[in-house]
Amino acid sequence: MIDTLELCIEHQKASKIHIGSGVFESLDTFLKTKHYSKLVVFTDQNTTEMCLPLIDQYYSFLNNAEIIELQDGEQSKSFSALQSIIEALIEYNIDRNALFIALGGGMIHDITGFIASIYKRGVDFISIPTSLLCMIDACLGGKTGINFKHVKNQIGSFYFAKHIYIYPAFTNSLPKQVYTSAMGEVLKYGLIDNASFFHKISAQKTVDQEDILKCLNIKMAFVKADPFDTGQRKKLNFGHTIGHALETSWTGKTPLLHGYAVGIGLLCEAYISKKRTGLSETEFKQIEKGVTSLLPPIKLNFNQDNFITAIKQDKKNSHHRIQIILLERIGNAIVYDNLSLDDLIESLDYYQSIT
Ligand SMILES: NC(=O)c1ccc[n+]([C@@H]2O[C@H](COP(=O)([O-])OP(=O)(O)OC[C@H]3O[C@@H](n4cnc5c(N)ncnc54)[C@H](O)[C@@H]3O)[C@@H](O)[C@H]2O)c1
Repeated sequence: MIDTLELCIEHQKASKIHIGSGVFESLDTFLKTKHYSKLVVFTDQNTTEMCLPLIDQYYSFLNNAEIIELQDGEQSKSFSALQSIIEALIEYNIDRNALFIALGGGMIHDITGFIASIYKRGVDFISIPTSLLCMIDACLGGKTGINFKHVKNQIGSFYFAKHIYIYPAFTNSLPKQVYTSAMGEVLKYGLIDNASFFHKISAQKTVDQEDILKCLNIKMAFVKADPFDTGQRKKLNFGHTIGHALETSWTGKTPLLHGYAVGIGLLCEAYISKKRTGLSETEFKQIEKGVTSLLPPIKLNFNQDNFITAIKQDKKNSHHRIQIILLERIGNAIVYDNLSLDDLIESLDYYQSIT
């Protein structure tokens, strides 16, 4: 059984999303109608091991594909990785009629989409998300990029995948921590757009295909309304001003996963909402309970100078004013201009107090 959704954006190539256990049948059919000069599959060592064989076992369409395997982790969203990949593409003699396939989580998607957008001025790419976070978020919406000097996604482009093939069973091999981290983004959708979805997810530990579709439908509505992130779409960034800054200034022994960083951001930004946009104490406590039940608070280890640099470089900012997304109530977000650094620091103090 396959569900399909379609993202259509004026004057842009649209993305068609296929989700279900039979999606590779659809991919096989799509490839038979095309004459790509070469398929290039981007993986990391985990998706090469856990996901590629599941496709190869039943289908032959990747038989002659080139595989470009990156080191897993956020460090691969970098200029040095970008350069090595472009060197490999030239060595394999890949032309502009090739098809790039992202087979991985958000990291693989962000860099594959970016390279697809710049290599020979643009190559088609399709998405096969393998992590829950990528299935519910990173695979959709055309944001691509790499990190630079402690700032997330500082360099990138808008470039939409032609097709997105979501095979939910890929999540079976995800490490528990990686699976759970995605719940930060799942909760975010409820907080910005749908209170009953937030309350439903707060009481669950996992999500099913219907929940994945719900997340994609919420994201799709924001992207359709504002594809290039100049207004409404910014609301998808709730939790990310602080989340992204923590992610790149993190000094803990193990990296801070994106979804956990967003989870911390949700709490801190809900705290600021209580102070600045009238979020009620009752709803704030519901958010605290819902988020911490899925993502238990952790001790913050970060470099304050790098944190402030990242906050000041956030892409939402304009005319030296810090922009952030806040909640008026659960299910209703607003774009708030001119946030003070004092509010940010106070919200981190609040978070430290509950660890
Ligand atoms: N472009 C967007 O719209 C967007 C949206 C949200 C997040 N992001 C980006 O996505 C990234 C986070 O994505 P993520 O959480 O998927 O992280 P990730 O891509 O780093 O994957 C996390 C870990 O899971 C492993 N993995 C992935 N699929 C697996 C599978 N099926 N089985 C076993 N292991 C598997 C990976 O190898 C990695 O070790 C961040 O860079 C974030 O900035 C982008």
